[in-house]
Amino acid sequence: MNSKFKALFESFTLPCGVELKNRIVMAPMTNFSSNEDGTVSDSEVKYYARRSGGVGMVVTACTYVTANGKGFNGEFGADSDELVPSLRQLAIGIKEQGAKSVLQIFHGGRQVPPQLVPNGDVVSASAIPSEGAGKPVPRELPEEEIEAIIKAFGETTRRAIEAGYDGVEIHGANGYLIQQFFSPHSNRRDDRWGGSIEKRLTFPLAIVDEVKRIVAENTNEPFIVGYRFSPEEPETPGITMADTLVLIDALADKNLDYLHVSLNDFWSKPKRGVDDSRARIEIIQERVGSKVPVIGVGSLYSADDVLRAKETGIPLIAMGRELIIEPDWVQKVAEGKEDEIATKIDKGKQQELMVPDPLWQAIIHTPGWFPGIE
Ligand SMILES: Cc1cc2nc3c(=O)[nH]c(=O)nc-3n(C[C@H](O)[C@H](O)[C@H](O)COP(=O)(O)O)c2cc1C
Repeated sequence: MNSKFKALFESFTLPCGVELKNRIVMAPMTNFSSNEDGTVSDSEVKYYARRSGGVGMVVTACTYVTANGKGFNGEFGADSDELVPSLRQLAIGIKEQGAKSVLQIFHGGRQVPPQLVPNGDVVSASAIPSEGAGKPVPRELPEEEIEAIIKAFGETTRRAIEAGYDGVEIHGANGYLIQQFFSPHSNRRDDRWGGSIEKRLTFPLAIVDEVKRIVAENTNEPFIVGYRFSPEEPETPGITMADTLVLIDALADKNLDYLHVSLNDFWSKPKRGVDDSRARIEIIQERVGSKVPVIGVGSLYSADDVLRAKETGIPLIAMGRELIIEPDWVQKVAEGKEDEIATKIDKGKQQELMVPDPLWQAIIHTPGWFPGIE
């Protein structure tokens, strides 16, 4: 190995005690390839196994905690005990190759396509649709359904423990239900779940507390609990960088194992809310300090890209698209073959890359999404 990359290969112990063998994480990526009944498909398990030999930790695609949270065609489910064997198949597929396995737990809220959820009943914090033409007007969740969804995040965590995962990641990012409660765009409530910024934090923090409670009750082994968030929203009103600093102060007091900052560009700068010209991730890292480890992500492809990101002081670096393009990324850097890393999709290599057909079709038919597809 070229010695400058050694820093990427140091092991890292998360606060719960789980040790990651290196600093590289596979970012959560939906693959549209699960079975109709919510079970994982064989091609999906093979796709993960192919990418689990080098990285320290794999975060799975998001999985719905209740039937009305299903956000994607071919998304696998975790909303009933019958799905534990399916969840186990995926955990084993990842762990057998040497990576820690983390299940991303999710509810799509107002972003779910109505045809994917029972009776087309789309729910959210308030009856405010997402911006854009033709978006459904969600039904405002009543108190007892909010409580039930919080419990469902806990139940899914219990299933993750039973299925053998090393942890869960609470999906509080990308505009889905947890973020919808934090956002002043989608949360216009004036009860205990909304109003002030502190009240908009009630739902995300209640989920963290419930997940942590279930972990404490159901296992004596170290179990990872991470939280993913998006630092800003483009809408007005919408989450600003200043709001996010309030969110991370609250999360940093919750004994989480990591905060995962969802960004498409690792180096992106704040749009509003702070007077600071540094990258968002640097501002977040400074604010969090040593209270909880941070994972950074976004358009990192080459070994030098990842090294530069790591040099900001962020302890863990995730990659999404690049690990689809190059499943052997970590092994190549470890062997001093970083010049042989592919950084563009090769349209002729679907079989070799073991990418399930629905994901492959989405990649090659979406111009500009992946390098190599114009
Ligand atoms: C195919 C695909 C599916 C994704 N699905 C999810 C998901 O299920 N959950 C999530 O939090 N982010 C999801 N993302 C976002 C990625 O985790 C990541 O933040 C983003 O792709 C930027 O990282 P990258 O440039 O390394 O790909 C997805 C991204 C891609 C490309």
